[in-house]
Amino acid sequence: MGRRLLFLGPPGAGKGTQAAMLARALGVPHLSTGDMLRRAVTEGTALGLRAEGIMAAGDLVPDDLVVAMVEERLAEPDASCGYLLDGFPRNVAQAEALATALGDGAIEMVLLVEVDEEELVSRLLGRAAELGRTDDNEETIRRRLEVYRAETSPLVAHYPATGIEVVAVDGIGAIDEVFARIVVALAGMPAPLPTVPP
Ligand code: AP5
Repeated sequence: MGRRLLFLGPPGAGKGTQAAMLARALGVPHLSTGDMLRRAVTEGTALGLRAEGIMAAGDLVPDDLVVAMVEERLAEPDASCGYLLDGFPRNVAQAEALATALGDGAIEMVLLVEVDEEELVSRLLGRAAELGRTDDNEETIRRRLEVYRAETSPLVAHYPATGIEVVAVDGIGAIDEVFARIVVALAGMPAPLPTVPP
């Protein structure tokens, strides 16, 4: 079994960007619940139809739907060699469901990507013009930040209380600089380090 890491941080912190790079470097799948849900919306599946309005409002899709989706994905063969979770768990109930499904070793370490709110809003408004995500407008971005503070940030205390280390990484700076900090953060772990991509 390879690395089992969780990227935590507010919307726009760069979790998806960094998780994709690290997943390539480590050769493990990048599991983004946001990407999986957006795919379900595009494909018009039953899950997508339930999730679409909730995501557009910046709220969380119900835990039972998301937990079932993640459990199904983690049962695929490529996840047997490790994974990087991005956007899941999103609250303590999801964290407990994951620990129940996979046992205490489901996550080895949490990487908390920290970025101040002004920069988060500016990044997400910048992406709105680029990608056209329905939740990248100022009102919904503010709601996503509120949901992060109320629902997701308690995980920063929950994981150490269950014996899992949370390592904070400064998410401000060039993408490669942030990646290099993540590589350093992983240096304490007993496995080969990924190399910083050129
Ligand atoms: P999700 O897709 O997880 O959205 P999010 O957490 O709001 O994350 P983002 O993708 O906005 O930010 P990120 O931190 O990944 O940053 P990124 O790398 O993209 O979830 C969307 C919705 O799905 C939720 O609101 C909810 O409704 C639902 N959902 C998902 N998971 C769920 C769950 N578990 N339970 C219930 N509901 C769930 O970067 C952002 C931008 O910044 C990009 O343009 C990027 O190019 C740029 N950028 C990245 N790094 C830097 C840098 N260092 N400097 C400058 N710009 C940078």
